[in-house]
Amino acid sequence: MKVKSAKFIASAATTESVPPGKLPEIAFLGRSNVGKSSLLNSLLGVKGLARTSSNPGRTKALNFFAIDEEMVFVDLPGYGYAKVSKEERKNWGKLIENYLAQRTQLVLCILIVDARHEPSLLDLQMKSWLQHFGLSFLVVNTKVDKLSANERSRSLKRAQQVLTTERIVPYSAVTGEGIKQLWDEIRASLISQPDGKSMQASQVRL
Ligand code: GTP
Ligand code: MG
Repeated sequence: MKVKSAKFIASAATTESVPPGKLPEIAFLGRSNVGKSSLLNSLLGVKGLARTSSNPGRTKALNFFAIDEEMVFVDLPGYGYAKVSKEERKNWGKLIENYLAQRTQLVLCILIVDARHEPSLLDLQMKSWLQHFGLSFLVVNTKVDKLSANERSRSLKRAQQVLTTERIVPYSAVTGEGIKQLWDEIRASLISQPDGKSMQASQVRL
């Protein structure tokens, strides 16, 4: 899919500063430094819209991007970064939890894991959270460009077992593998809204 416009809307470090909106939203989640921002940029075909870094913990707030005035992508701060204070971790937890629990227009959560490693306990907890909130989610196994063909299929099977889901897309922000499949999933989520989710402006909370 060709994106015509991708615009940064806002950055929110607190629940109060989350922007109102009525477009359907797609959230990108994963542990710190897993490649969330890179995935977002590669999906959109732009470099540097979401800021990437080799230093973990780069994205500290929720960043909102309007895509073709049709949907909004939300880059969430990564979890599991060791070098943050207890206080910061607590604030992060609240920010994400409020967002996931209350954002009526959230139609799909993309949980990103590193294909080179077994999904961690935190990844599993995040998946349980998404299920708890009744959110539709999809797992992306990223950085597959770093694996051989054998390692890739082992990695996919392992992630399917650990996260108990078949719905996993192999991906690489470097080669562009998986971009089409991920767009197909995103498009499908815009069409099939689960019951009770409506894009009526009057029903949008936060
Ligand atoms: P935080 O915002 O800090 O949580 O990180 P993030 O999850 O947004 O990760 P980011 O996109 O900044 O990428 C982290 C590092 O992984 C960078 O050095 C990227 O170049 C690298 N990276 C991301 N995706 C891929 C990929 O598909 N393949 C390879 N080989 N490297 C990748
Ligand atoms: Mg980031």
